Amino acid sequence: MGQIAIMLKKFKNINHFFHPDNNHISTDFSPFVTTIGGERLQVMQATDNNNSDLLDLEREVYKGEMPWSSFSFKTELQKTKNSLYVVVYQASTLVGFIGARFLTREAHITNIAVSPVFQGRGIGTFLLNLMIQKARDNKCECISLEVRIDNDRAKKLYSDLGFEATFIRKNYYQDDVDAVNMVCWLMPHKLKERS
Ligand SMILES: CC(C)(COP(=O)(O)OP(=O)(O)OC[C@H]1O[C@@H](n2cnc3c(N)ncnc32)[C@H](O)[C@@H]1OP(=O)(O)O)[C@@H](O)C(=O)NCCC(=O)NCCS
Repeated sequence: MGQIAIMLKKFKNINHFFHPDNNHISTDFSPFVTTIGGERLQVMQATDNNNSDLLDLEREVYKGEMPWSSFSFKTELQKTKNSLYVVVYQASTLVGFIGARFLTREAHITNIAVSPVFQGRGIGTFLLNLMIQKARDNKCECISLEVRIDNDRAKKLYSDLGFEATFIRKNYYQDDVDAVNMVCWLMPHKLKERS
Protein backbone atom coordinates (compact mmCIF):
# COMPACT_ATOMS: atom_id res chain seq x y z
CA MET A 1 0.00 0.00 0.00
CA GLY A 2 1.33 3.45 -0.97
CA GLN A 3 2.10 6.30 1.38
CA ILE A 4 -0.72 8.42 0.01
CA ALA A 5 -3.18 5.60 0.68
CA ILE A 6 -1.91 5.37 4.26
CA MET A 7 -2.45 9.09 4.75
CA LEU A 8 -5.95 8.92 3.28
CA LYS A 9 -6.70 6.01 5.59
CA LYS A 10 -5.48 8.07 8.55
CA PHE A 11 -7.65 11.04 7.71
CA LYS A 12 -10.78 9.39 6.30
CA ASN A 13 -12.31 9.12 9.75
CA ILE A 14 -12.02 12.81 10.39
CA ASN A 15 -13.89 13.99 7.32
CA HIS A 16 -15.94 16.47 9.32
CA PHE A 17 -12.62 18.27 9.46
CA PHE A 18 -13.65 21.04 7.05
CA HIS A 19 -16.84 21.84 8.94
CA PRO A 20 -17.35 25.64 9.11
CA ASP A 21 -17.30 25.46 12.93
CA ASN A 22 -13.57 24.89 12.59
CA ASN A 23 -13.13 28.63 12.05
CA HIS A 24 -12.43 29.25 15.71
CA ILE A 25 -9.39 26.96 15.70
CA SER A 26 -6.03 28.59 16.25
CA THR A 27 -2.80 26.94 15.22
CA ASP A 28 -0.72 30.04 15.97
CA PHE A 29 2.62 29.14 17.48
CA SER A 30 5.35 31.41 18.78
CA PRO A 31 8.88 29.97 18.76
CA PHE A 32 10.68 29.63 22.07
CA VAL A 33 13.82 28.19 23.64
CA THR A 34 13.72 25.59 26.41
CA THR A 35 16.05 23.23 28.25
CA ILE A 36 15.25 19.51 28.40
CA GLY A 37 17.66 17.00 29.93
CA GLY A 38 20.36 19.68 30.04
CA GLU A 39 20.06 20.41 26.29
CA ARG A 40 19.17 23.89 25.08
CA LEU A 41 16.49 23.37 22.44
CA GLN A 42 14.70 25.64 19.99
CA VAL A 43 11.01 24.90 19.54
CA MET A 44 9.20 26.27 16.48
CA GLN A 45 6.44 25.67 13.96
CA ALA A 46 7.59 23.54 11.05
CA THR A 47 7.52 24.94 7.53
CA ASP A 48 8.49 23.61 4.10
CA ASN A 49 12.08 24.54 4.98
CA ASN A 50 12.13 21.70 7.53
CA ASN A 51 10.98 19.09 5.01
CA SER A 52 14.38 17.53 4.32
CA ASP A 53 15.30 17.47 8.04
CA LEU A 54 11.98 15.74 8.79
CA LEU A 55 12.69 13.11 6.15
CA ASP A 56 16.21 12.55 7.51
CA LEU A 57 14.82 12.12 11.02
CA GLU A 58 12.20 9.62 9.84
CA ARG A 59 14.91 7.71 7.98
CA GLU A 60 16.95 7.57 11.21
CA VAL A 61 14.02 6.64 13.46
CA TYR A 62 12.45 4.05 11.18
CA LYS A 63 15.76 2.64 9.93
CA GLY A 64 15.19 3.53 6.30
CA GLU A 65 11.53 2.54 6.13
CA MET A 66 9.77 5.86 6.00
CA PRO A 67 6.08 5.95 6.89
CA TRP A 68 5.81 9.47 5.43
CA SER A 69 7.25 10.67 2.13
CA SER A 70 8.44 14.15 1.19
CA PHE A 71 5.03 14.62 -0.46
CA SER A 72 3.21 13.62 2.74
CA PHE A 73 5.16 16.15 4.81
CA LYS A 74 4.79 18.85 2.17
CA THR A 75 1.02 18.34 1.99
CA GLU A 76 0.60 18.38 5.75
CA LEU A 77 2.85 21.39 6.29
CA GLN A 78 0.73 23.42 3.87
CA LYS A 79 -2.45 22.84 5.87
CA THR A 80 -1.61 25.50 8.43
CA LYS A 81 -5.25 26.46 9.01
CA ASN A 82 -6.07 23.31 10.96
CA SER A 83 -2.74 21.54 11.33
CA LEU A 84 0.26 22.31 13.49
CA TYR A 85 3.68 20.70 13.12
CA VAL A 86 6.26 21.59 15.75
CA VAL A 87 9.97 20.89 15.39
CA VAL A 88 12.66 20.83 18.08
CA TYR A 89 16.24 21.69 17.15
CA GLN A 90 19.48 21.46 19.07
CA ALA A 91 21.56 24.04 17.24
CA SER A 92 21.08 22.99 13.58
CA THR A 93 20.09 19.38 14.34
CA LEU A 94 16.43 18.35 14.25
CA VAL A 95 15.94 16.18 17.33
CA GLY A 96 12.17 15.68 17.29
CA PHE A 97 8.82 16.73 15.93
CA ILE A 98 5.10 16.32 16.45
CA GLY A 99 2.14 17.02 14.17
CA ALA A 100 -1.56 17.33 14.87
CA ARG A 101 -4.81 18.22 13.17
CA PHE A 102 -7.46 20.17 15.02
CA LEU A 103 -11.16 19.56 14.54
CA THR A 104 -14.06 21.28 16.21
CA ARG A 105 -14.12 18.93 19.16
CA GLU A 106 -11.14 16.68 18.65
CA ALA A 107 -7.45 17.01 18.01
CA HIS A 108 -5.60 14.15 16.35
CA ILE A 109 -1.85 13.57 16.57
CA THR A 110 -0.73 12.52 13.10
CA ASN A 111 2.97 11.92 13.69
CA ILE A 112 5.62 12.09 16.43
CA ALA A 113 9.26 11.05 16.44
CA VAL A 114 12.40 11.78 18.41
CA SER A 115 15.91 11.09 17.13
CA PRO A 116 17.21 7.81 18.67
CA VAL A 117 20.19 9.65 20.20
CA PHE A 118 17.81 12.02 22.01
CA GLN A 119 15.16 9.47 23.06
CA GLY A 120 14.48 8.78 26.72
CA ARG A 121 15.29 12.36 27.78
CA GLY A 122 11.75 13.68 28.00
CA ILE A 123 11.46 15.28 24.55
CA GLY A 124 8.57 13.01 23.48
CA THR A 125 6.72 13.81 26.72
CA PHE A 126 7.38 17.51 26.18
CA LEU A 127 6.02 17.41 22.61
CA LEU A 128 2.90 15.48 23.60
CA ASN A 129 2.18 17.84 26.50
CA LEU A 130 2.62 20.77 24.16
CA MET A 131 0.00 19.39 21.73
CA ILE A 132 -2.34 18.41 24.60
CA GLN A 133 -2.17 22.04 25.79
CA LYS A 134 -2.84 23.31 22.26
CA ALA A 135 -5.90 21.02 22.09
CA ARG A 136 -7.09 22.40 25.46
CA ASP A 137 -6.56 25.98 24.18
CA ASN A 138 -8.76 25.08 21.20
CA LYS A 139 -11.43 23.72 23.57
CA CYS A 140 -11.13 20.22 22.13
CA GLU A 141 -12.89 17.56 24.18
CA CYS A 142 -10.20 15.02 23.45
CA ILE A 143 -6.96 14.34 21.64
CA SER A 144 -6.42 11.03 19.88
CA LEU A 145 -3.73 9.11 18.01
CA GLU A 146 -2.95 5.76 16.46
CA VAL A 147 -0.02 3.64 17.54
CA ARG A 148 1.30 0.32 16.27
CA ILE A 149 -0.02 -2.45 18.47
CA ASP A 150 3.55 -3.73 18.96
CA ASN A 151 5.04 -0.32 19.93
CA ASP A 152 5.12 -0.93 23.67
CA ARG A 153 7.35 2.02 24.50
CA ALA A 154 5.10 4.52 22.76
CA LYS A 155 1.93 2.92 24.18
CA LYS A 156 3.35 3.19 27.71
CA LEU A 157 4.29 6.82 27.17
CA TYR A 158 0.80 7.64 25.90
CA SER A 159 -0.96 5.84 28.74
CA ASP A 160 1.30 7.58 31.29
CA LEU A 161 0.02 10.87 29.83
CA GLY A 162 -3.63 9.84 30.18
CA PHE A 163 -4.38 8.24 26.80
CA GLU A 164 -6.66 5.20 26.90
CA ALA A 165 -6.87 2.48 24.26
CA THR A 166 -10.26 2.63 22.52
CA PHE A 167 -10.35 0.31 19.52
CA ILE A 168 -8.14 -1.53 17.04
CA ARG A 169 -7.75 -0.56 13.38
CA LYS A 170 -6.97 -3.82 11.62
CA ASN A 171 -4.07 -3.95 9.12
CA TYR A 172 -3.59 -0.19 9.46
CA TYR A 173 0.11 0.04 8.62
CA GLN A 174 1.97 -0.70 5.39
CA ASP A 175 3.12 -4.06 6.76
CA ASP A 176 -0.49 -4.88 7.80
CA VAL A 177 0.22 -4.48 11.50
CA ASP A 178 -2.82 -3.32 13.51
CA ALA A 179 -3.06 0.12 15.11
CA VAL A 180 -4.52 0.94 18.50
CA ASN A 181 -6.55 4.13 18.62
CA MET A 182 -5.90 5.95 21.91
CA VAL A 183 -7.78 8.92 23.32
CA CYS A 184 -6.97 11.40 26.06
CA TRP A 185 -10.08 13.16 27.39
CA LEU A 186 -9.56 16.83 28.16
CA MET A 187 -12.94 18.04 29.41
CA PRO A 188 -13.83 17.37 33.08
CA HIS A 189 -17.49 16.55 32.25
CA LYS A 190 -16.34 13.88 29.79
CA LEU A 191 -14.16 12.34 32.48
CA LYS A 192 -17.10 12.33 34.92
CA GLU A 193 -19.48 10.77 32.37
CA ARG A 194 -17.04 7.97 31.78
CA SER A 195 -16.39 7.08 35.45
C1 LIG B 1 7.86 7.28 21.09
C2 LIG B 1 8.87 8.42 21.13
C3 LIG B 1 8.34 9.60 20.32
C4 LIG B 1 9.06 8.84 22.58
O1 LIG B 1 9.95 9.95 22.60
P1 LIG B 1 11.03 10.11 23.79
O2 LIG B 1 11.64 11.44 23.65
O3 LIG B 1 11.91 8.95 23.78
O4 LIG B 1 10.07 10.08 25.05
P2 LIG B 1 10.48 10.41 26.54
O5 LIG B 1 11.93 10.68 26.67
O6 LIG B 1 9.54 11.45 26.99
O7 LIG B 1 10.30 9.04 27.24
C5 LIG B 1 9.08 8.44 27.43
C6 LIG B 1 9.28 7.09 28.08
O8 LIG B 1 9.90 6.20 27.17
C7 LIG B 1 11.11 5.68 27.74
N1 LIG B 1 12.10 5.64 26.70
C8 LIG B 1 12.25 6.51 25.71
N2 LIG B 1 13.29 6.12 24.93
C9 LIG B 1 13.78 5.00 25.46
C10 LIG B 1 14.82 4.13 25.09
N3 LIG B 1 15.60 4.35 24.03
N4 LIG B 1 15.03 3.04 25.85
C11 LIG B 1 14.27 2.82 26.91
N5 LIG B 1 13.26 3.61 27.29
C12 LIG B 1 13.02 4.69 26.58
C13 LIG B 1 11.49 6.69 28.78
O9 LIG B 1 12.26 6.12 29.80
C14 LIG B 1 10.17 7.15 29.28
O10 LIG B 1 9.66 6.23 30.21
P3 LIG B 1 9.45 6.67 31.72
O11 LIG B 1 8.48 7.82 31.68
O12 LIG B 1 8.91 5.44 32.34
O13 LIG B 1 10.80 7.08 32.19
C15 LIG B 1 10.25 7.95 20.58
O14 LIG B 1 10.66 6.83 21.30
C16 LIG B 1 10.27 7.67 19.09
O15 LIG B 1 10.46 8.56 18.27
N6 LIG B 1 10.07 6.40 18.74
C17 LIG B 1 10.13 6.00 17.33
C18 LIG B 1 8.96 6.55 16.54
C19 LIG B 1 7.66 6.17 17.17
O16 LIG B 1 7.49 5.06 17.66
N7 LIG B 1 6.72 7.11 17.15
C20 LIG B 1 5.42 6.89 17.71
C21 LIG B 1 4.46 6.60 16.61
S1 LIG B 1 2.82 6.43 17.25
